[in-house]
Amino acid sequence: MLGIGAIIGTGIFVLTGTVAAVNAGPAVVLSFVIAGVASVFAALCYSEFASLVPMAGSAYTYGYATLGEVFAWIIGWDLVLEYALGAVTVAIGWSGYVVSLLKDFGIVVPPALSAARGTVVTLADGSTVTAVFNLPAVIIIAIVTTLLVIGIKESANVNNVIVFVKVAVVLLFIVGAAHAINPANWHPFIPPQEGPGIYGWSGVMTGGAIVFFAYIGFDAVSTAAQEAKNPQKDMPIGIIGSLLICTALYILVSGIATGVVPYKLLNVPDPIAVAADRAGMGWMSSLIKLGAIFGLSSVILVMLLGQSRVFWSMSRDGLLPQFVNKIHPKFQTPYLTSIITGIGVAFVSALLTVREAGSLVSIGTLLAFVIVSIGVLVLRLREPNLPRAFTTPWGWFVAPAGAFSALYLMASLPWRTWERLIIWFVVGIVIYFAYSVSHSKLAAKE
Ligand code: ALA
Repeated sequence: MLGIGAIIGTGIFVLTGTVAAVNAGPAVVLSFVIAGVASVFAALCYSEFASLVPMAGSAYTYGYATLGEVFAWIIGWDLVLEYALGAVTVAIGWSGYVVSLLKDFGIVVPPALSAARGTVVTLADGSTVTAVFNLPAVIIIAIVTTLLVIGIKESANVNNVIVFVKVAVVLLFIVGAAHAINPANWHPFIPPQEGPGIYGWSGVMTGGAIVFFAYIGFDAVSTAAQEAKNPQKDMPIGIIGSLLICTALYILVSGIATGVVPYKLLNVPDPIAVAADRAGMGWMSSLIKLGAIFGLSSVILVMLLGQSRVFWSMSRDGLLPQFVNKIHPKFQTPYLTSIITGIGVAFVSALLTVREAGSLVSIGTLLAFVIVSIGVLVLRLREPNLPRAFTTPWGWFVAPAGAFSALYLMASLPWRTWERLIIWFVVGIVIYFAYSVSHSKLAAKE
């Protein structure tokens, strides 16, 4: 439940459509399979990494304890990218579904205020407008940030209800739309290549790297290694189980969506709703939108919460300024971190497209996987006797396979995404050498 709750989100509800239309055609199904396999390798390594350190935390915490400060900084800075931009990506997806649902009720959000800056939107009468910014995405970030500042507790029960709703709408779509498949829409399954990353195998791989976003969140399971009764058995079941269930759902949903609607028409903010409409699902289509909105909100919450925890840990270790951890006198929350993050995330979500944001999250997370997969092997050599609650099965195969598949997917992403990743790390390295090196608790001890 933990895994599925964190995993299902904008990846399946939005990226399916854009990747089918722009990169992979109906073979988006294969993109999901490839990204799923890479995720299983990485997830197993993550679990061993997490089980090495007897405390709750993120890859940053484990990295600090096992690989040292520089690697911890790189992983931490990378996680900021993953969580903050993950929230951006899901907020953009949320916006698409809210605009679509409001339209069902006759409320029209102006297209100029509901898409990435510079997007040219074609209206029903054939005229076009250029979008200024994405207002609904800003609104949901403001709402979630407010919740985080006031202080909310997401209990296992709430998570279970949300998982139930998410899986229910996905199943509703699968059952309700399957009858409308026109197999002609699946031909050609892999459209002939038109450029690097545009259809052909290269498009399937680029698509795999982008939809990889859909699997992010399983690290939520690996971080619970200490709480499992029998980690050696429970962790692989939890991780591989949630990944297999999600992979199966993703294959079915993307297969049906591309079977119902010609793939070129799926580059819309709400592709699953468009396919449901096309399948004649009537009011059920509005129900799917409502479920998606509900489910996406919880993913944004988890991401922003994760983001503030990473900042919190980094500042605890002296790598970021202490004011980051200032606690609100009444609400008892790290409100400054939440507000600063919220403003930054809202700003970016107003301007980027879902593809741009999602690709950047994917490349950042894949990089973290490469470090973790290699780190697991290094630690087996350097610290073979360290107690491990969970040992990756066939580690000498799984860890290199994890690192290699993550690198391969990274290499399939466009140069523009690499450029942004590099800029992010240059900023990180400047902060590290200008501030963190001299302020870290580790430096103070020496
Ligand atoms: N896997 C999550 C999603 O697709 C982040 O929204």
